Amino acid sequence: MVTSPASVDRILDGTRVAAASLAITAERARHFYERTGAQPCLAAVLVGDDPASLAYVRMKQRRCRRTGIASRLVHLPADSTTAEVVGEIKRLSSDPGVHGILVQHPVPPGVDERAAFEAIDPAKDVDGVTMGSFAAMAFGLPTHASCTPAGILRLLDAYGVELSGMHAVVLGRSPILGRPMGMLLLGRDATVTYCHSRTSELPDVVRTADLVVAAVGIAHFVRGAWIKPGAVVIDAGYNEGNVGDVHFDEVLPVAGLITPVPGGVGPATIAVLLEQTVAAAESLVRP
Ligand SMILES: NC(=O)c1ccc[n+]([C@@H]2O[C@H](COP(=O)([O-])OP(=O)(O)OC[C@H]3O[C@@H](n4cnc5c(N)ncnc54)[C@H](OP(=O)(O)O)[C@@H]3O)[C@@H](O)[C@H]2O)c1
Repeated sequence: MVTSPASVDRILDGTRVAAASLAITAERARHFYERTGAQPCLAAVLVGDDPASLAYVRMKQRRCRRTGIASRLVHLPADSTTAEVVGEIKRLSSDPGVHGILVQHPVPPGVDERAAFEAIDPAKDVDGVTMGSFAAMAFGLPTHASCTPAGILRLLDAYGVELSGMHAVVLGRSPILGRPMGMLLLGRDATVTYCHSRTSELPDVVRTADLVVAAVGIAHFVRGAWIKPGAVVIDAGYNEGNVGDVHFDEVLPVAGLITPVPGGVGPATIAVLLEQTVAAAESLVRP
């Protein structure tokens, strides 16, 4: 990453935004413990041995520990059937000691990820992956939001980005990231365009954006020449070697604001996940 002192002002610092939010969450977790004698608890379900997924789960568990949240890991073999995975998730859903459930995405191809997500008790869907959470979020109703898109909104709000009337171009339409991102932006009165693998003239579409959210999973996909000067560029990508979906060095001189990778969307996502875990514990265990 090449940064000059002037350009540092244009970098959205996800670690700083997350730290402020995690401090509040830690305080809420402490109150919950004082009231109930138990810590809020997040259970992660990991299927298979993908090293990146294991690293993400461990990172989330470390962050839980530092925030006063208990964590459990259910690690299932890569050749698990959908029924076995669903069975484990249902057990966690009915376990009163578990308040939040996270199914680490992606699951191996032999497992029906949608079936796994839908086995999560909606009250414990702290990653916002069930159809019910998506629908509520799309209608602007209270729910557990999809964590990465909600983390991105948290970052934009922290830097005072006024979304109303902006043309937002979301690159990617996955159920956990691109799709809910567009819905949240629509809910904030942005004009939203989705791009995906079949979009024609994609760079030309991106050139019309006031806000670009990159969520395609291809390293350095978004180039500097695609960006309208002054546009806000959010990089949700996290590819091998800690590399984002945006060509940071090319885009930094053109963008008005930009997130780094690492240190941008990732920490904000985890902050939302932990906040929603404590909120779930508070509503599941009432005084
Ligand atoms: N920071 C975080 O907390 C966090 C959380 C989750 C994911 N991520 C990262 O975000 C990225 C995306 O994750 P995901 O789970 O959404 O990925 P995904 O399920 O693989 O979806 C990728 C999306 O990108 C689109 N796409 C692929 N190639 C494209 C191309 N050449 N041109 C335009 N669009 C293209 C796909 O289009 P089609 O629909 O047409 O196939 C799809 O909609 C990954 O790098 C992932 O690691 C980060």
